[in-house]
Amino acid sequence: MTQLPAAQSASPRPADGGRALYGGKSNRRITVRDIALAKERGEKWPMLTAYDAMTASVFDEAGIPVMLVGDSAGNCHLGYDTTVPVTLDEMTMLSAAVVRGTGRALIVADLPFGSYQEGPVQALRSATKLVKEAGVGAVKLEGGERSHRQIELLVESGIPVMAHIGLTPQSVNAMGYRVQGRGEEAAQQLLRDAKAVQDAGAFAVVLELVPAELAAEVTRSLHIPTVGIGAGPDTDAQVLVWTDMLGLTGGRMPKFVKKYAELRQVMGDAAKAFAEDVVGGAFPQEEHSVH
Ligand code: KIV
Repeated sequence: MTQLPAAQSASPRPADGGRALYGGKSNRRITVRDIALAKERGEKWPMLTAYDAMTASVFDEAGIPVMLVGDSAGNCHLGYDTTVPVTLDEMTMLSAAVVRGTGRALIVADLPFGSYQEGPVQALRSATKLVKEAGVGAVKLEGGERSHRQIELLVESGIPVMAHIGLTPQSVNAMGYRVQGRGEEAAQQLLRDAKAVQDAGAFAVVLELVPAELAAEVTRSLHIPTVGIGAGPDTDAQVLVWTDMLGLTGGRMPKFVKKYAELRQVMGDAAKAFAEDVVGGAFPQEEHSVH
């Protein structure tokens, strides 16, 4: 494959002697230790999904310190309706591409549905494939108390784990896409889930679609960072799906998405302009021709 540009550190707002995850000076890969130190410093950080080398290289050059090869690739990249059909082979192929396209970001790959639910040994086999064949630095899996044994074995085996609680899209057939943690009992369960993944050794935990006040309470009660998506402003980090954030995803967006560009419009307009040039004979011109 064409060599993609190596990562360059993002320059804006160097903080804390250049050690900041975003805007810091380091050109080496971010590690889970850097993530732990950021929590100690009270530093907030951004995470974006990525599913291919080219897009990942853009985000790496922009200084995004952590990239998630999410199984949202199912909806956003592979044309499935949900994340449920995504396979471990697909995740391995996409993750390897993202690793090849980056030089600085910590790359976290999702363990897809069916690749860890059988138990810790299956989880270890699947995570090992992502680490050895794709070269990712960490894996993510869904579930709090219900996944703590899987997290323990992976961490004991030297594989850093990001947990994911609240709305867990792989369970869409059981829970739908609803806000989680509303009401006293559900809030207590979310707090227990957060504690369980921290105790099992997770280095960070995604909180998806939970009330902002509850996400703030979880964040205060943990020593590992929380990564919010639809979880209000008080988590340690924020993640967005890149195709949502850049306006490439079609249709209605959830309330928690902020669009920073309108790529769907830009790409569609460019494709139409190209088509019209070809049909009308305006492309190619002399400067695009070889002799
Ligand atoms: O798959 C994914 O993109 C995710 C994020 C929404 C956290 O799990």
